[in-house]
Amino acid sequence: LLYGLSWPCDARGSDAYGLDSGLSNYSFPENFILGVSTAAFQIEGAWNEGGRGESIWDKFLHEHPTYTPDNSSADVAADSYHRFKDDVRIIRDLGVSTYRLSISWSRILPNGTDNYINAEGVQYYRNLFDELAKYNITPMVTLFHWDLPQMFMDLGGWTNPEMVDYFEDYARVAFNLFGDVVKIWTTINEPHQHCYNGYGTDYFAPALESYGVGEYLCDHYILLAHARVYHLYDREFRPKYKGKIGITLDAFWADPLDPTKEEDREAAERYMMMNLARYANPIYSAEGDYPAVVRARINTISQLQGFPRSRLPYFTAQEIEDLRGSSDFFGLNHYTTFLMTPSRMEKGWRVPSSDHDTGVRLSQNPAWPKPGAEWFSVYPPGFRKTINWITQKYGTKVPIIVTENGLSDFGGIKDYARVSYFNKYMYQMLLAMYEDGCNVQGYFAWTLMDDFEWKDGYVSKFGIYHVDFTSPERTRTPKLSALNYREIVRTRRI
Ligand code: NOJ
Repeated sequence: LLYGLSWPCDARGSDAYGLDSGLSNYSFPENFILGVSTAAFQIEGAWNEGGRGESIWDKFLHEHPTYTPDNSSADVAADSYHRFKDDVRIIRDLGVSTYRLSISWSRILPNGTDNYINAEGVQYYRNLFDELAKYNITPMVTLFHWDLPQMFMDLGGWTNPEMVDYFEDYARVAFNLFGDVVKIWTTINEPHQHCYNGYGTDYFAPALESYGVGEYLCDHYILLAHARVYHLYDREFRPKYKGKIGITLDAFWADPLDPTKEEDREAAERYMMMNLARYANPIYSAEGDYPAVVRARINTISQLQGFPRSRLPYFTAQEIEDLRGSSDFFGLNHYTTFLMTPSRMEKGWRVPSSDHDTGVRLSQNPAWPKPGAEWFSVYPPGFRKTINWITQKYGTKVPIIVTENGLSDFGGIKDYARVSYFNKYMYQMLLAMYEDGCNVQGYFAWTLMDDFEWKDGYVSKFGIYHVDFTSPERTRTPKLSALNYREIVRTRRI
């Protein structure tokens, strides 16, 4: 009994994908990390307090007040800037060992560049890390979770090759300041979602919609910036601090719409190559470069469109050398599955974004539960298939850490769908580990609490804690999924 609620039988999720009842037969190994995730822009608020500079998301939301369905901004969000102790209290309640958060670049370096370090911003993260340390909670820190300092956007954002240097400067500041307490770093969160939605389309800030050019430039310099910072840490900080550093990539699973059709099977594989291997291959494959099929496809389409050169830039031999092996783990964000069939875009070759280069039409099975966001359906086996696909392509030497996984809904604390989602998805991950031999070493639930969900404002919710956005205190209340996750953490079983 919780808050006078009884636990309905169907909350255990008795369908083909998960656990019918009782405990999972597999448990999480002793050193497997169970954690919880957030991102600075989505929770901190205090957008212009404590000396923080403007980011591209501040500017974008202020200029487009009706961008989200609830006409919201992240000016206050969950107010974690003022209420970080509340965050640490609920993280403690969960019993997790590790908290994945991101640093707001413009809180530390308000202009983006390291000629001025904002002491108040530094103090905020210091206080947060101290508070976590009191309770033995390890921070895992993302350097870039989409909130680029606006100053850089005025210079072309990630399409500007100079960003590689500026990102390195920022990373050096962060490693110097926090390298003593932060032992797991990720450079970039989801380059694909950031560059595709922000530079390929107008779905996310900075909304460039640059007709197939800017998105690949963004990818290219983000990958190079990642590699640069990996080597910076490896060379100058690892000897002293003995930490780990990697990148987080997003992967939807792609299944063929009709598995008996060869063209649908090809479309599904093409989607995985274009949207995951495009980022993973340079880092995790022996080639250290974009996959040959991706290169060939984009080169051909660019030529047919009359571009004087491929829209996909080339790495130099030295850059390939730097990229190859530049991650200590495979940070994986996984949420949902799409079904693929070829699109007829080939005829027109009009290419606003990589989606059109991929040449697929996406759909989802109407039979899959659809509890929230428009793009989101529940299909747990897609998680196991994603982990297996990565393992088949890149082997087991580099461990996978699931840096995000979670469910979107519109509801409150009785979040049965989320309980069921976590049980089934985590179970699929255990199957990938124990039955398929995949090397997964950590899992972070997305997300600690309700937050600003980008395009969906505060309407689509991913939190395992409810946040009351109508109260100035932004009261955090556990949902059923928080209690369920706490049990998983305690028993190390589902
Ligand atoms: C992945 C992103 O990293 C995160 O910021 C976002 O909230 C979730 N996907 C859910 O859409």
